[in-house]
Amino acid sequence: MDTLQLVIPTLFGLEGLAAEELRRLDLSGVAAENGRVFCSASPADIPRVLLGLRTGERALVVLGRFYAADFDALFEGVRALPWERFIPKGGAFPVKGHSLNSALRSVPACQSIVKKAVAARLGAKYGLETLPEDGALHQIQFSILKDEVTVMLDTCGPGLHKRGYRAVGVAAPLRETLAAAMVMLSKYRGRDPFCDPFCGSGTIAIEAALIARNRAPGLNRSFTAQKWDWLPSKLWMAAADEAMDKEFHGDYDIWGGDIDPYAVEIARSNAVKADVEDCVRFEVADATRFHRDEPYGRVVTNPPYGERIMEKKEAEELYRAFGQTVRGLPQGWKVSVLSSHTEFERTFGRTADKRRKLYNGMLKCDLFQYTGKK
Ligand SMILES: C[S@@+](CC[C@H](N)C(=O)[O-])C[C@H]1O[C@@H](n2cnc3c(N)ncnc32)[C@H](O)[C@@H]1O
Repeated sequence: MDTLQLVIPTLFGLEGLAAEELRRLDLSGVAAENGRVFCSASPADIPRVLLGLRTGERALVVLGRFYAADFDALFEGVRALPWERFIPKGGAFPVKGHSLNSALRSVPACQSIVKKAVAARLGAKYGLETLPEDGALHQIQFSILKDEVTVMLDTCGPGLHKRGYRAVGVAAPLRETLAAAMVMLSKYRGRDPFCDPFCGSGTIAIEAALIARNRAPGLNRSFTAQKWDWLPSKLWMAAADEAMDKEFHGDYDIWGGDIDPYAVEIARSNAVKADVEDCVRFEVADATRFHRDEPYGRVVTNPPYGERIMEKKEAEELYRAFGQTVRGLPQGWKVSVLSSHTEFERTFGRTADKRRKLYNGMLKCDLFQYTGKK
């Protein structure tokens, strides 16, 4: 199969990091846009991207881009694409999508047109009036933006942030992709001590452990594309071998603390599921008493935001106390704090050296970075 185009949607603010990761995975034609990154890929690259990417939300194969301002143009544009190269006779092909600032506004109507066009093409190619759709899932996605239609196939199933290690039902957890991005932005390389004093379910510390080990985040889960005929299992095995060959096996000092014993219990069990329990420690601890004596280190953390009025006041008290604690650390410590609280810097007591806008789901946050003095 020829070179394909992939599109990687990302959380807003993470496009540059995802693009950098793709380049490091040796992909070419990498181009970041708002909320997504495009790149060229061979079929063998797809498992490599799915296993290795830390900051992308999913990976989709772009099958075509064309303009359509009415249903006929949508139907013809979709029918003209070479679906038989990607979807076998029995393949299931549900359709979902979205439309923004376009003449074709009704998403359900577009879904049904796309479905009919794909069925017409495959039916003609396979000589079938009704397609059984009893085989592997090939989720079709379309986006229509200012009348430009992009038609894609989702390779993932559950999003890439679902690494397979996190317990369900935890309050306010951070997305794994965002946690990985925070660790990467702190320039943590596995050498200095790494601490998250508000660790909750442990996401930041676990992502730090995966990064320190250079362990591919997708190794503990499966993807829908594993069942596709044109991505044979030897490609997945080669990608897994390549990823495992790149792992490091050093000693790492990664610590997470939380005042809530239940959160600590969950963090520990998540670390076991992520296979990093031998390099992360979790303890019940009050972040306002956090201290370390080592001259260098990283704190990367996500304290409570205090979304409601009363909680907001409590959050401010906590930031004040935590600010004092952080000022007691040796000067080589770099501190990154993610918060949506508008008064964070004032209550923490220091203006950040760097500030970066990030989104925790729909919630707009800032990553306040204090770079320390060497
Ligand atoms: C926004 S959550 C962190 C979520 C975490 N990043 C995750 O992915 O699960 C904030 C955490 O701070 C903890 N916390 C609140 N006050 C604390 C304190 N004084 N010391 C330590 N942890 C505290 C809460 O129990 C909660 O788990």
